[in-house]
Amino acid sequence: MSTWREVLADTAAALNDSREARFICEHAAGLDAGDFATALEESVTQRMGLHVHDMVRRRLAGEPLQYVMGRWAFRHLDLLVDSRVLIPRPETELVAEIALQHARKAPEPRVVVDLGTGSGAIGLSLAFELPLDGTTVWLTDVSNDALDVARANAAGIGRAGANVRIGGGSWYEALPVHLRGSIDVIVSNPPYIATDDPELARDVADHEPALALFAGDHGLAHVQTVVSQAPAWLRVGGVLVLEIGHRQGDAVRRLLTDAQLHDVEIRRDLAGRDRIALARR
Ligand SMILES: C[S@@+](CC[C@H](N)C(=O)[O-])C[C@H]1O[C@@H](n2cnc3c(N)ncnc32)[C@H](O)[C@@H]1O
Repeated sequence: MSTWREVLADTAAALNDSREARFICEHAAGLDAGDFATALEESVTQRMGLHVHDMVRRRLAGEPLQYVMGRWAFRHLDLLVDSRVLIPRPETELVAEIALQHARKAPEPRVVVDLGTGSGAIGLSLAFELPLDGTTVWLTDVSNDALDVARANAAGIGRAGANVRIGGGSWYEALPVHLRGSIDVIVSNPPYIATDDPELARDVADHEPALALFAGDHGLAHVQTVVSQAPAWLRVGGVLVLEIGHRQGDAVRRLLTDAQLHDVEIRRDLAGRDRIALARR
């Protein structure tokens, strides 16, 4: 029987990537990074070896590592992810952080909505990190497949899951009407890639759901819908936080201003590119 040290070396050679090999071996072993480091001389069971082999085969066929592993870390959560949902991105962690800062300041009981939740990454992070008492977080999506993933992830966040509500439908249609005019924070990472965007990476277009990626009107059609109806759903003083494309800052600033929202800001991501739009009713 091989040891994990040997399987790790073989996997790194097959993938030509030692970081990914480590992720795959840790996942097959069911160990976190620290425990895996102390298990390198242990024998790999046949079942675990087959699991590594299968993940390497899928990865070499071009599937993203996150789908191959079926999970990915986002802030404090370990989320189920598969081809039904967008892979949660590091820049979206910043979107969640800004929404969290505003939601923390909201009076109790606070209501937060994550429109187009996908895996639930943003909304479930908020539910997990906000106080358990006095918090309700709505997760919505037009994709029932995505909502199945979000529901499974909600079941994995423990007691905070009791504060989560799920709504299916297009943007605000997924919400009960009694929330109109009472939401403290609306956060959304809507599809914002133009259908003919030449910069879109091939592996993203080939594997992630088109419904999660593309929008008409130069990528702005969904942003426009979310922005234009936000004043009707936010309470006075409530905040809208959006992830946007890195060339969309000026256009989204105009949309927010046209919607009569105040304190409009376009913030940059760690790479210094426009990435987050904020405004207040
Ligand atoms: C860019 S993904 C974001 C997923 C997740 N919030 C994240 O940040 O990882 C956009 C999400 O919007 C959803 N979506 C697309 N069209 C929608 C619509 N008309 N109404 C609601 N959600 C929609 C997609 O199914 C997808 O889950």
